[in-house]
Amino acid sequence: MNNNNNTYSVDILQKGFIDEEVPENINLVNEIYRLRNEKNAVILAHYYQEPEIQDIADYVGDSLALSQIAAKTDKDMIVFAGVHFMAETAKIINPSKRVLIPDMKAGCSLADSCPPDDFRKFCEKFPNHKVISYINTSAAVKTMSDVICTSSNAVEIVNSFPENQKLIFAPDRNLGNYVAGITGRKMVIWNGACHVHEEFSIERILELKKINKEAKILAHPECEKPVLIIADFIGSTSALLDFTKKDSAKEYIVATETGILHQMKKLNPEKIFIPAPPKDSTCGCSDCRFMKMITLKKLYLCLKEEKPEIFLEEETIRKASVPIIRMLELSKKLLR
Ligand code: 13P
Ligand code: SF4
Repeated sequence: MNNNNNTYSVDILQKGFIDEEVPENINLVNEIYRLRNEKNAVILAHYYQEPEIQDIADYVGDSLALSQIAAKTDKDMIVFAGVHFMAETAKIINPSKRVLIPDMKAGCSLADSCPPDDFRKFCEKFPNHKVISYINTSAAVKTMSDVICTSSNAVEIVNSFPENQKLIFAPDRNLGNYVAGITGRKMVIWNGACHVHEEFSIERILELKKINKEAKILAHPECEKPVLIIADFIGSTSALLDFTKKDSAKEYIVATETGILHQMKKLNPEKIFIPAPPKDSTCGCSDCRFMKMITLKKLYLCLKEEKPEIFLEEETIRKASVPIIRMLELSKKLLR
């Protein structure tokens, strides 16, 4: 972590968050609203956050929507209730603003599956290839990319390149193979994956389907191929949510992180949503352990103390902003 002369307590350095007692009589929700207004901050939350975090946020969305909001905000401070690469992306596109994350250790197993030094060597093996990186990557990997994509726009971003352009797609192998199948493009795909989306059990989903015959199966493209094959609908978190609103079914088995069920239920109170079961029934692994590190208490302390804060080298910001801005511009053109 680059502290840029900011002094962090041992707690933040070791634990990733401020560990302070909060008096029992404090109403965390009211205090968070008060501090947010006092500091002219905006709270952004990903769909995988705990319900109480989603409910307190100014905006809840998928990774594309949140980066679009971060790019446009006129607030002085962005507090990102999500994982590290999301807050980092907000900082890269908004270097003059302060970007805070309630727990610096809220990482991402997918981003971690693509270490920058290994990725550099990998790219060197494939000269004349353009590099498309998923937003779930470190800032260092973004500096080596030509364009960033999210699960909402990956197909359109891949199709934006001429057919004869050779492509590298990183880091998610499942999303990469799914997009290659839809676009018919041969791509060199990095062999990375997410610990949540690779854990869904095809056998247990099919057992569930036998009991709930009318239920439709919804899956995020980070899931493994067998899950995608049996899915009735595949999409990013916002696409899945949108589908539940427009579709006439009454029951769904949802193969993505469980946080999204909160918005699905809010939007469709009359429908039933069943989380897809993981391979190991005891692990609770359809919860992203990183997303779930963010709590109301950490959010409150983060706003109060104005840390942990994201700091990046100027050079990293300059280089990593190019593919992100390219994605934002392409998304405006391609998705509207
Ligand atoms: P979305 O792009 O659908 O928000 O997904 C982000 C993510 O981390 C999926 O695991
Ligand atoms: Fe990363 Fe997977 Fe968590 Fe998404 S669900 S943030 S890809 S670890």
